[in-house]
Amino acid sequence: MYVLGIESSCDETAAAVVKDGIRILSNEVSSSLQFHQKYGGVVPEIASRMQLETIAEVADSAIKKARVKLKDIGLVSVTAGPGLIGSLLVGISFAKSLSLSLSIPLLGTNHLYSHIYANFLNGRAVELPFVALVVSGGHTSLFYVEDFDRINLLGATLDDACGEAFDKVAKILALGYPGGPVIERLAKNGNSGKIKFSCSNTKHPLDFSFSGIKTAVLYCVRRPASGVQRRNMAQYAIPHLLRQAGRNTQYADIAASFQEAVIDVLIKKSLLACKIKKAKRLVMGGGVVANSRLREKFYAEAEKSRVKIYFPDKKLCLDNAAMVAGLGYKLFRQGYRSNLDLNVDPN
Ligand code: KG4
Ligand code: ZN
Repeated sequence: MYVLGIESSCDETAAAVVKDGIRILSNEVSSSLQFHQKYGGVVPEIASRMQLETIAEVADSAIKKARVKLKDIGLVSVTAGPGLIGSLLVGISFAKSLSLSLSIPLLGTNHLYSHIYANFLNGRAVELPFVALVVSGGHTSLFYVEDFDRINLLGATLDDACGEAFDKVAKILALGYPGGPVIERLAKNGNSGKIKFSCSNTKHPLDFSFSGIKTAVLYCVRRPASGVQRRNMAQYAIPHLLRQAGRNTQYADIAASFQEAVIDVLIKKSLLACKIKKAKRLVMGGGVVANSRLREKFYAEAEKSRVKIYFPDKKLCLDNAAMVAGLGYKLFRQGYRSNLDLNVDPN
């Protein structure tokens, strides 16, 4: 069965055609990133306006690249939430109109579960049940997955999402948006043991908190800890010097130390969740898990705990519609359908 996936939960407008939930025939993503960059984050109104303008073109391109005809599509799977209301509405309205005009079944899917499903594309599979960690720009959540229609939340961030913390730290350091890739690049030249950052403790051990570490970076940049030379302090504080990222070692140390502290807390809590649930498999998803240092350290630590770890292909970590089509197929086969009163589920 050919499934058309539609994804528009944040700044991307994406469409994909996936065969039988595993074979990606096309995977088109158009981003409005360049229009948000000067604001240091996604502006919802700009995102939804761009999505409205591009969605038909992106879907058309996905159909053409897959070399299928619209009449061959057996299901339209669309992200219903969580995400930005206006953006989700564009995708859902488009999917509904296709479903109605072509008499194709419609299915609304959960964006976070789609990130988990990215591990099942390209013929890969993970034995159920497992613990899943989704780390994106909007969420940081640990789940216990018995099947894709039986997913329980074990813990989540109480404040900023992990990707959001990367984005905000990059903004503090005047590195631009999105922050994850640039922090990762910069951290490669830094000493992660130089500054002792840590993420705040949470009352519930499987929850997360990233707003404290972001503020710690801010203070480190504006008011370095005692012992740091005054002239070094000036280097931290002057944005145009900070922009010379690669050449500023101290700046790289901040990025490396921040990144390491974040990765450490993600590992600690994910492995704790595996221990609590007696799970032997840990499945990763979301934009942040494209990070190479995170992947490397997770593999090493999971192995020590005898937990098998799974990551999607790097290009399937970020928002895309192939994962939406794949999850839609899986749920459709389990008997799930949406009707035309499908609504956005932003939270
Ligand atoms: O899953 P995603 O594409 O969109 C949401 O659902 O939010 O994730 C985007 C987030 C952004 O916050 C971005 O900074 C972060 O993923 N990200 C990374 C990396 N690449 C993207 N974070 C750390 N390291 C990366 N290499
Ligand atoms: Zn996402």
